[in-house]
Amino acid sequence: LTFFIHFHCVWTNRLGTMGRGIAVCLARVGISVIAVESENKLLETGRQMVIGMLERDAKRRGVSASLNLLKFTISLQDLKDVNLVIEAVFEDMALKKRVFQELSKVCRPATLFCTNTSGLDVDALAGVTDRPHLVVGMHFFSPAHVMKLLEVVCGPRSSSETIATAMSLGKRMGKVRVAVGNCPGFVGNRMLKPYIDQGFRILEDGIAARPEDIDVIYLFGYGFPRHRGGPMFYASMVGLERVLERLEHYHQAHPDVPHLKPSPLLKKLVACGSPPVQKWREHIKTMHTKQIQAN
Ligand SMILES: NC(=O)c1ccc[n+]([C@@H]2O[C@H](COP(=O)([O-])OP(=O)(O)OC[C@H]3O[C@@H](n4cnc5c(N)ncnc54)[C@H](O)[C@@H]3O)[C@@H](O)[C@H]2O)c1
Repeated sequence: LTFFIHFHCVWTNRLGTMGRGIAVCLARVGISVIAVESENKLLETGRQMVIGMLERDAKRRGVSASLNLLKFTISLQDLKDVNLVIEAVFEDMALKKRVFQELSKVCRPATLFCTNTSGLDVDALAGVTDRPHLVVGMHFFSPAHVMKLLEVVCGPRSSSETIATAMSLGKRMGKVRVAVGNCPGFVGNRMLKPYIDQGFRILEDGIAARPEDIDVIYLFGYGFPRHRGGPMFYASMVGLERVLERLEHYHQAHPDVPHLKPSPLLKKLVACGSPPVQKWREHIKTMHTKQIQAN
C-alpha cells in the first residue's frame, strides 16, 4: 500500500463532469492529481469547479481543502512521471484510442492506464497501447465524488496486479468496489438501460398511463432513491438520446438478446427532439391514435 502514498494520479482529457468528480475523490484522500484539459479556457472553468467542489467538501467534513495536491495543465507531457492515469474523455472509442496511444508515448512503461468508460470495450482500448496488461476499467458513477460504487472492469489481458491496484485505489477513495467482466455496458448499464426501455414499452402498451406512475412504483415499492426520481425521470435527466444510443450499441453487440432492442416509443421520442417527461403523454396518445386508425 505504500505504493499509493506518493501516488500521482491523473485523469486526462478532460475536466468534464466525471473528471471533476474523480479529481475530488482523489485529492480529498491525499492523492496528488494532475488534471489535463485540451485548451486553457476549458482548463480554467474545470479548475474553478474542482476547487469549489473540494472546498465545499472540506467545509462539510470540517477539514481544510487539499488544494496543494492539484495541478492543472494542458500539456500531456506533464504526465510523464505519473503512476496511474484515469481517462475521462467523451464516450467515443476513436477518441479514447487516440488518447491511450498518445499516453503510451508519454508515460513510463509501468504506468497503469484506467478508463472511466461507461461501457466500451476495455480490451479494444488495451490493444492500442504498448501495455495491454496494465489497462483496466475504473467505472465511476455520477456524481463521482458522491456515488459510492466503482465497477472495476477486468479485461482479458488485465493482469491480476493491475486489477488489484485498481481495487486498492478504489478502497482508498472510500468506494464500494465490484470487479466485473468486460462486456458492452458492464453490469450496471447493461441492466439499467433495458430496464428503462421496458418502461417505454409499458407506456407504449398502455399498461401504465403516465411515466410518473412507473416512477412511483419504483420509488415506493422498491425504494428507488427519491433524488433520482425513478427510472423514467432518470432517463430524462441522462438524456433520451444517450439511453437510445447505448441500447443500440448493446443491441448490436448482443443481437440475440431481445430485451436490448430499443422500443419504438423511445426511438420516436428521440426523433421528436427528446421532449421532457410531461410531454411524453402527447406522443403516446398520437402513437395509439395512429395504431387504432391503422387497425
Ligand atoms: N456522465 C455520466 O453519468 C457518466 C457516468 C459514468 C461514466 N461516464 C463516462 O465518463 C466519460 C466522460 O463523460 P462525462 O459525462 O464526464 O463527459 P463530458 O462531456 O462532461 O466531458 C468529456 C470531456 O472530454 C473532453 N472532450 C470531448 N470531446 C473531445 C475531443 N474531441 N478531444 C478531446 N477531448 C474531448 C471534453 O473537454 C470534456 O472535458 C465517458 O466515457 C462517459 O461514458 C459518464
